[in-house]
Amino acid sequence: MIFGRVKPLDAILATAEKKGLQRSLGAFQLTMLGIGAVIGTGIFVLTSEAAQKAGPGMMLSFVLAGFVCAVAALCYSELASMVPVAGSAYTYTYAVMGELLAWMVGWALILEYAVGASAVAVGWSGYVVGQIRNLLGIDIPMEWVNGPSSGGYINLPAVVISLLVTWLLVIGTTESARFNAILVAIKVAALTLFIALSVPVINGAHFEPFMPTGLTGVAGAAASIFFAYVGFDAVSTAAEETKNPQRNVPIGLIASLLFCTVFYLLVSAGAIGSPLGAQPVRDAAGVVLSPGTSELAAQCKAIVASGATEPLSCSREALAHVLRTIGWEKIGNLIGLAATLALPSVVLMMMFGQTRVFFTMARDGLLPEKLASVHPRYRTPHVVTIVTGIAATLASAFLPVGKLADYSNSGTLFAFFMVALSVMVLRKTDPTRKRPFRTPAVFIVAPAAMLGCAYLYFSLPLVAILVLPGWGAIGLAIYFLYSRKRSHVGRGILDVVDDPAMQPEIAKPLDR
Ligand code: ALA
Repeated sequence: MIFGRVKPLDAILATAEKKGLQRSLGAFQLTMLGIGAVIGTGIFVLTSEAAQKAGPGMMLSFVLAGFVCAVAALCYSELASMVPVAGSAYTYTYAVMGELLAWMVGWALILEYAVGASAVAVGWSGYVVGQIRNLLGIDIPMEWVNGPSSGGYINLPAVVISLLVTWLLVIGTTESARFNAILVAIKVAALTLFIALSVPVINGAHFEPFMPTGLTGVAGAAASIFFAYVGFDAVSTAAEETKNPQRNVPIGLIASLLFCTVFYLLVSAGAIGSPLGAQPVRDAAGVVLSPGTSELAAQCKAIVASGATEPLSCSREALAHVLRTIGWEKIGNLIGLAATLALPSVVLMMMFGQTRVFFTMARDGLLPEKLASVHPRYRTPHVVTIVTGIAATLASAFLPVGKLADYSNSGTLFAFFMVALSVMVLRKTDPTRKRPFRTPAVFIVAPAAMLGCAYLYFSLPLVAILVLPGWGAIGLAIYFLYSRKRSHVGRGILDVVDDPAMQPEIAKPLDR
């Protein structure tokens, strides 16, 4: 019975108790943690991809993606408050639907976190290149800041930041709560400034035609811009160190999501209403070009060479470009600087998340235990960190940001889908267990989350849709050839008593 291997909830909870992390986070800090993990490449960079896919209709895309995340967050909240331990969707699924599906979720989370980290690294690259051009007057040749599909060789700045973050994680760098708060303040200040300068000068005419690519375009952009909301699940991974997690985790999840949605809508309105507008770039025949292709890159180059202003869809530093166009050259540069400073921490959070999921899977015996070894001096899971870092570096070196974000989304949507399913299954199989937070109207909200995730998933570009089953097939092969025989649960070993001295603090993204 392949769904029979369930890791008992009580064992998971006992492990968490043993670790005895200090419970120090309140609702406000959790919300800050969520905002810190969420605001990143999505809004700073992918706004231009969304414009290329949906035109001004991208505002609807933000609402749609935000809605799907909100219902998913309500489901996350119930599980995170019941099972306040690290490992997030992987752990929940293990407890509810058994090892095979948990393995598939953990495997999909690699897409979310490792590929997501590389997407943010490529997004950062666009801003840092803009900074170097605007502040130092140095134009780095485009061949060295783009992968082959965007007309270049390799994205060197993305490689540099990915390797740097890997090294920081190996030597045990974690963000202090104060440092995170400073970065959140920088990001929020940058977006607020953007809104304050761009919204009052909105030109309503630029919202017409509103949906140049129709509903399909809006759904496609929503599937991509979904990336801008990913990361709120970081809040649930901090549940083990939260005071009164029952109350504070759901507040942290939902407040950070709500905050970001409002900001994203205002930012996109400001961008659309600027002189740049948000109409997609078309080829000579009037066909809308796909983001991340060499055709679009060539068309953008031709437009700029003709002396026209670079369209929003072509910009690699969308928000800075908008402000420069409406006459705030210096503030545009400042926003670029804010993104340059703040995005590396999103890369760090995502890579951190990845290493901890890998670590938990290795500790459960599903991956080679060598991966779970802890560095004698730095006390970090250095082997998984280096493996993750190399994979993320390679991805960021050669692939464009939009494609990476789409691949990451395919994994994340699957994980969210499973979390929503788990909530409902657990209500049926274990109805009496204490639920400190109950998803309201769960039999409406959870199916809505599942439908929403499926809808966004099938609105992704075909290649991104195929990435999930392709990746899943590799995962299944590894599971049946390797992991199944070695699983601790399968062998009857329950890792309830972990020696805290022998493992990194897996649920501790922040150093306080
Ligand atoms: N939501 C995060 C970002 O947009 C991953 O960078």
